[in-house]
Amino acid sequence: MSRTITDVQNEIRKLKREKDICILAHSYQGREIIEIADFVGDSYALSVKAKSVPNKIVIMCGVRFMAETVKLLSPDKTVILSNKNAGCPMAEQFEKDEIEYIKTKNKNLCVVCYINTTTELKTVCDVCVTSSSALKIVDKLEAKDILFIPDINLGTYVKNNVKGKNIQLLHGGCPVHACVTESEVLKAKEVHPNALLLVHPECVPDVVKYADYVGSTSGIMEFAKASDADEFIIGTEQAIVETLQFECPDKSFYPLSVNITCRNMKATTLVDVLNCCKGTGGEVIELEEETMKKAKKCIDRMIELG
Ligand code: 13P
Ligand code: SF4
Repeated sequence: MSRTITDVQNEIRKLKREKDICILAHSYQGREIIEIADFVGDSYALSVKAKSVPNKIVIMCGVRFMAETVKLLSPDKTVILSNKNAGCPMAEQFEKDEIEYIKTKNKNLCVVCYINTTTELKTVCDVCVTSSSALKIVDKLEAKDILFIPDINLGTYVKNNVKGKNIQLLHGGCPVHACVTESEVLKAKEVHPNALLLVHPECVPDVVKYADYVGSTSGIMEFAKASDADEFIIGTEQAIVETLQFECPDKSFYPLSVNITCRNMKATTLVDVLNCCKGTGGEVIELEEETMKKAKKCIDRMIELG
């Protein structure tokens, strides 16, 4: 008889107990993975959690920068990226040298990087942010001159909502969220006139301007759950539409665009997770000690200010 999803999930649960493994999952992961995870959250919640995980082995079901963040915060643990091909294209849009060059032009420049960046790039940044903590952290910084990288859309959202800063931006961004167009918003609002529009700040400003709520993955989920409204158009990854519909069957959730599916976030399968638990799959994250020391500073600062 062939194995079912539940059989594979049970095998994973057994191996987790036997080998002292913790599974962290970003909320864009599929339902079958969310069900076997010990903790599910947005990028910020996952990095805070990474600091306090008691287990010897941590499997990160998400993308590479998330597994690297866990390694930076828990260097003595074995950290495994669930699928070695799962990268975030936005994280690799700028090189360390480009940022160092910009810094030579203005010694007072404070470089704020979205957590969706490589460990290498973080070594030349001053503070990290996530979509849920960006406004709060940039507002708290003493520095006036800020370079926000790599996401021009999240950066524009911060620029429009934090006063008294001179914020420079570069042309980076999430290829998945940035695809959503203003005409898709108008169409979705026409089809669902009573629905509230909840949007991730990685979307372009011409989409964000129509939103009833702008926030991170967890922010969107919390808003929808707490709201008295019955219908919502969701402007972030398809997984959030599915999770919300699963968790709130009395409400209705519609995707803003059918194109908001992140292939990298969807790269991990349940069998990948099983193979990670067996020690035959995924990729064990190895980072140079000096690089880790430098990169960790901006993540520590994020947690301190966030
Ligand atoms: P958050 O988890 O901060 O909402 O970010 C979404 C995302 O695109 C992660 O890669
Ligand atoms: Fe990167 Fe965008 Fe995918 Fe998030 S959704 S992992 S930012 S490409």
